[in-house]
Amino acid sequence: MAANTSNTVIKAILDRRSIRSFENRDLTQEEIEQLRQAVMAVPTAMNMQELKFTFILNHNVIEELSLEVVKQLELSGDTLALERIRGRHPSVFYGAPLLIIISAPADSHYGQVDGGIAVQTLALAAQGMGLGSCIIGMAGHAFTGSRSRKYRDLVHIPQGHDFIISIAVGHPAISKEAHENKPENITFVR
Ligand SMILES: Cc1cc2nc3c(=O)[nH]c(=O)nc-3n(C[C@H](O)[C@H](O)[C@H](O)COP(=O)(O)O)c2cc1C
Repeated sequence: MAANTSNTVIKAILDRRSIRSFENRDLTQEEIEQLRQAVMAVPTAMNMQELKFTFILNHNVIEELSLEVVKQLELSGDTLALERIRGRHPSVFYGAPLLIIISAPADSHYGQVDGGIAVQTLALAAQGMGLGSCIIGMAGHAFTGSRSRKYRDLVHIPQGHDFIISIAVGHPAISKEAHENKPENITFVR
């Protein structure tokens, strides 16, 4: 159910879903530019701005990464993850026309936190633009195997940087219910 609020930010937060099927339609240059602007507005610890973002718009590169993720999972014998992937979509990135890879310096104290903030900023930006997204941690498998150097170079993860997270963005081909809420996870001290 769509959120019933007039606040557009709250609405984007409440309406966002992980979209796992995208239309076969590229993003416009304007949409890409808006996402690029959103990335540059992301807050980072001590304003270090050490995160690197790779916008992958090449369908073949996205597909190549997907195949490598599956390959690495096969090599590691992670049948649970493989079954989950195969039950969802032929691609780990769900046919999205844009994949954004976020990396941070390996020795960065706040790299993980900064990356998390950045990826949700992108998810909400996409939502606000009428696009869909799915945060994808699974992509990290492409950068850990014996061929990791090749794939790090392919997506321009700089030397000394680690993959943090990725996000697939595109025009949603499906709608989805919100995940079950857990109000018990929240307490108040008054
Ligand atoms: C750090 C992180 C990593 C995730 N990695 C994946 C992933 O690799 N593949 C995937 O399909 N979804 C992934 N997700 C999406 C979650 O499965 C999803 O957020 C969760 O099921 C709640 O659903 P919702 O996003 O629709 O509210 C990830 C989400 C987060 C926050």
